[in-house]
Amino acid sequence: MGKIILTGDRPTGRLHVGHYVGSLKRRVELQNSGEYEKVLIMIADAQALTDNFENPEKVRQNIIEVALDYLSVGLDPTKSTLFIQSMVPELTEMTFYYMNLVTVSRLQRNPTVKSEIQMRNFEASIPVGFFCYPISQAADITAFKATTVPVGEDQLPMIEQTREIVRKFNSVYGETLVEPDVLLPDNKACLRLPGIDGMAKMSKSLGNCIYLADDPEDVRKKIMSMYTDPLHIQVSDPGHIEGNTVFTYLDAFCKPEDFAEFWPEYASLDELKEHYQRGGLGDVKVKKFLNKVIQAELEPIRARRKEYEKDIPAVYEILKAGSERARELAAQTLDEMKKAMKINYFDDLDLIKAQAQKYQGE
Ligand code: TRP
Repeated sequence: MGKIILTGDRPTGRLHVGHYVGSLKRRVELQNSGEYEKVLIMIADAQALTDNFENPEKVRQNIIEVALDYLSVGLDPTKSTLFIQSMVPELTEMTFYYMNLVTVSRLQRNPTVKSEIQMRNFEASIPVGFFCYPISQAADITAFKATTVPVGEDQLPMIEQTREIVRKFNSVYGETLVEPDVLLPDNKACLRLPGIDGMAKMSKSLGNCIYLADDPEDVRKKIMSMYTDPLHIQVSDPGHIEGNTVFTYLDAFCKPEDFAEFWPEYASLDELKEHYQRGGLGDVKVKKFLNKVIQAELEPIRARRKEYEKDIPAVYEILKAGSERARELAAQTLDEMKKAMKINYFDDLDLIKAQAQKYQGE
């Protein structure tokens, strides 16, 4: 059986460069590698509602933003199925059956759920829907028999939970579901790109993101304001690389060719780092280089976005067609699940015959 990719994002805002290096870029490479039988990319609106149920307009507005971001990074609707989670109600049905296979204490131990509960001040009263979203995520993945889930590091506990549900289902009802593998970025800087302020995570609420859709001037300003090394006061001072956001971004974005193109004085990132650490290299110069590197990466993304923005109804059509296709696939898996779970009463002629015989025999 061929390999299948499923992954997705919550539509709670535009996607930023952290999403890009952490997952989007990889998805496009995988899509174009030809190694995957199917690539499914989901806009997780139902999941977004688990912690935004009072704010449906936000979720609704961001469907198109995320779809445009997907298309603009190069996800290609002729190669990948782009779809909306709530348009595939089979996922909800699967979630209901998976709920039997997971304990409350296991959900409470899920590290992602734990930290999100803290972040959202849900400690006192956790909505059940939010609490169960790892189960619904297991449905998202298993509905398509995904073998491979490319995500950021923060999603690891979700995939682990999915694998447990698959093993449990298969052991109780017989081999039906596929256990997925996670695919993390192999570049350490891409695992969790910090915000421009050096905070551990890029987040909309902290206002420290560079968005894929930002215009060039905004990107430049954000880069020039980036957190660097507080001990590097004079240009001649030795600088530190660790925890220096500008260098973390260079680790994430810089390609060897970028030096020949934008800064031929240096042969490689290692050489640049050495000079910075030795002293004598100012932050502004490094930031200007980073700006060129990032602008070069974002330019084709912006251009593609502009094209798709011209025909928004067509983007909705792409999502609609994708959702129909996703629904067909999920319905197939749900049929198999129901059969395994013995809840396929009407299409099981043997069952009907056996029951009839039982009563006629009496
Ligand atoms: N939890 C993911 C996020 O917050 C979104 C998501 C929902 C997802 N279902 C998924 C990711 C299934 C991978 C696979 O970004």
